[in-house]
Amino acid sequence: MYFFIDHMHVDDLPEVHRIDAQSFPYQWSTATYINELSAPQHSRYVVVRVSPHLPGSSVSNAPVSRLQRFLNRWRTPVVAPTPRFPIAGHAGIWLSLDDGHITTIAVHPDYRRQGVGELLMLGLIDQAYDLNAQQLTLEVRVSNIAAQNLYVKFGFRHQGERKRYYTDNGEDASIMWTDGIHSADFRERVRQLRQQLYRRLQTTPVVLAATPPAPVTPQ
Ligand SMILES: CC(C)(COP(=O)(O)OP(=O)(O)OC[C@H]1O[C@@H](n2cnc3c(N)ncnc32)[C@H](O)[C@@H]1OP(=O)(O)O)[C@@H](O)C(=O)NCCC(=O)NCCS
Repeated sequence: MYFFIDHMHVDDLPEVHRIDAQSFPYQWSTATYINELSAPQHSRYVVVRVSPHLPGSSVSNAPVSRLQRFLNRWRTPVVAPTPRFPIAGHAGIWLSLDDGHITTIAVHPDYRRQGVGELLMLGLIDQAYDLNAQQLTLEVRVSNIAAQNLYVKFGFRHQGERKRYYTDNGEDASIMWTDGIHSADFRERVRQLRQQLYRRLQTTPVVLAATPPAPVTPQ
């Protein structure tokens, strides 16, 4: 089984909703996602697709130049398989001034603990560089240890709390931030995580397509 990053497309939304329903006490509407997908200048959504074979394998058989191999070491493999494969998870980021705000991340329960969350984070970080964000931030339930561990792995630190932030149960949010994502330390951390994850997932970077799809027009 292969896992690949792709941009979220509007026809992914039924699957996205199914994953959200198994991940969160309340879900975003289709209209909310469509609004997010309509503003790629400050809002990016990625999915991890699951494929029984290497998508774009015709491309992977082609000779890869040394320059391409070098570039592939720094970016998450982003492919646009046709036909599209089912998704194992999705995540989003929103640029607010200089801050890349991670708005959501969810992995289908069947695919958790297999590195999909990390692959999504790497996809978001690539998008954060593309948007020229300077640091990353997010809110997470204080009880959500799994997600907090994931974020700590990527250099996020607890920087404060928002009291009773979650309206379903009045739970507090921990506010987490990274240091500057352009620093040598952050880049090195991401490089190492990427290398370990690719080895673990046996993912071969094949095609780079970082440009998001054409914006969706809100209805
Ligand atoms: C949080 C979530 C996205 C993690 O996705 P995942 O694919 O299972 O994560 P990965 O397999 O990539 O794990 C990466 C790291 O996350 C942490 N982690 C993930 N699941 C964990 C768990 N159940 N317990 C403790 N740590 C966990 C670990 O640090 C792990 O690194 P390790 O494998 O070296 O231990 C997933 O559990 C999920 O979708 N949860 C429901 C939605 C949610 O809570 N989203 C966050 C909202 S703020």
